Amino acid sequence: MHIESAGSPLAPSWLAVPDDANALPSSVWSQHAVRSPAGELEIAGVAASALVAQFGTPVYVVDEADVKARARGIREAFEREFARVGSAAKVYYAGKAFLSIEVARWVIGEGLNIDVCSGGELAVALAAGVDPARLGFHGNNKGLSEIDRAVGSGVGAIVIDSVVEVERVAEAAARHGRIQPVRLRINSGVHASTHEYLATAREDQKFGIPLADAAAVVALIRAQPGLDFLGLHSHIGSQIFESDGFAEAARRLFALHAELSAIAPVPELNLGGGFGIAYTSADEALAIGALAASFADIVAAAAAEHDVPVPVVAIEPGRSVIGPSTTTLYTVGTIKDVLVDGTAVRKYVSVDGGMSDNIRPALYAADYSVRLANRASDAEPALVRIAGKHCESGDILVRADYLPGDVRPGDIAAVPATGAYGWAMASNYNYLGRPPVVAVLDGAARVIVRGETENDLLSRDAGVRK
Ligand SMILES: Cc1ncc(COP(=O)(O)O)c(C=O)c1O
Repeated sequence: MHIESAGSPLAPSWLAVPDDANALPSSVWSQHAVRSPAGELEIAGVAASALVAQFGTPVYVVDEADVKARARGIREAFEREFARVGSAAKVYYAGKAFLSIEVARWVIGEGLNIDVCSGGELAVALAAGVDPARLGFHGNNKGLSEIDRAVGSGVGAIVIDSVVEVERVAEAAARHGRIQPVRLRINSGVHASTHEYLATAREDQKFGIPLADAAAVVALIRAQPGLDFLGLHSHIGSQIFESDGFAEAARRLFALHAELSAIAPVPELNLGGGFGIAYTSADEALAIGALAASFADIVAAAAAEHDVPVPVVAIEPGRSVIGPSTTTLYTVGTIKDVLVDGTAVRKYVSVDGGMSDNIRPALYAADYSVRLANRASDAEPALVRIAGKHCESGDILVRADYLPGDVRPGDIAAVPATGAYGWAMASNYNYLGRPPVVAVLDGAARVIVRGETENDLLSRDAGVRK
């Protein structure tokens, strides 16, 4: 039974019926994702059917050249704009979005640094052979052994997040006979998310030191001979589409930066990450060139106002480097037309992955989009909901999009823009193995992180009989 649901009353207001439900909007898809003349999705010259035949589903497919181009584009834009105002910029890739040895090498190769926030992420970066001087280390509750390892391995900057960490990092520096460069994370009271930002005296969250207390903590840092104060740090949120929240945070931080500069030079200012990307055709990614220009203008104006040198500005993008590069391929298993409130049909298309490979829709109500990967179709678009295979009704991957109405079991469904916080937040819920990550470049595909097998999952269970 084919029930027409194009223009469905169940569709959210932002979702338009596409003129072509096979189209791959360039704002959402990785740079080398195209439809072949036969109608199949190809990424960097590798057909979806070939990827599925070789690696199975689900599989994360990373467009390697896309990651490198985005990393390079961000670095070049910030370097250019800060050179214009007589300073320089440093870009740290926020590894929490997705870190593997290959990805660490790609971004380092493009001139970025890497920000890690656990001993595990540090281990990956070191295993990739990254010069520790190019690493930053974050975290609101770093373990003593993590601090020791970070200091001992020569990490370039540790972001101190609480008063007690001043002593902890200083002790580690003394143990290792190092002068450890540090930043101080500030709770600026600015929180931004998508198009809105909220400014309070102090944001109600766990990270950083309130602005009002920060000068005293910097004095504690400066009193430690083993610590070298690089500057202040702020990260105001994620998936931000407007620059005004960053501007407000920069203004607030700069007043303190200037006050501290009157005592001793403060070479850097770190404004964090959070630059928004397009997950659906209704989103417009934050334009990096314009963002870099506005950061440079704001910081230069604040420096002039306070009569201090323009500091080197550091940023920490994660999602905007890796997010758009990756597409997850799934196999469609079952389809149900569900009559909602007796009025309209929602087509539930269930696939062979779910919240274990992408928790963001369940965790943040994040929206994604979907296309058929194995074929194009002229069938009327139908409103679909892509559901996973987990035992949770909230196990949804794409809450609403239109697919050709003849979608059927065995089709390959492709969900774009899954590179950030997809694999990184994946779990083994229901004993599903985490899928492999496959990099595609110039017509060739290779595994950069292998998928987990049942043996991997069982191998940690102490009850297994040898
Ligand atoms: C301190 C810090 N820096 C950078 C990032 C990266 O944010 P995004 O991936 O949205 O750019 C995060 C994300 O949570 C963060 O907490």
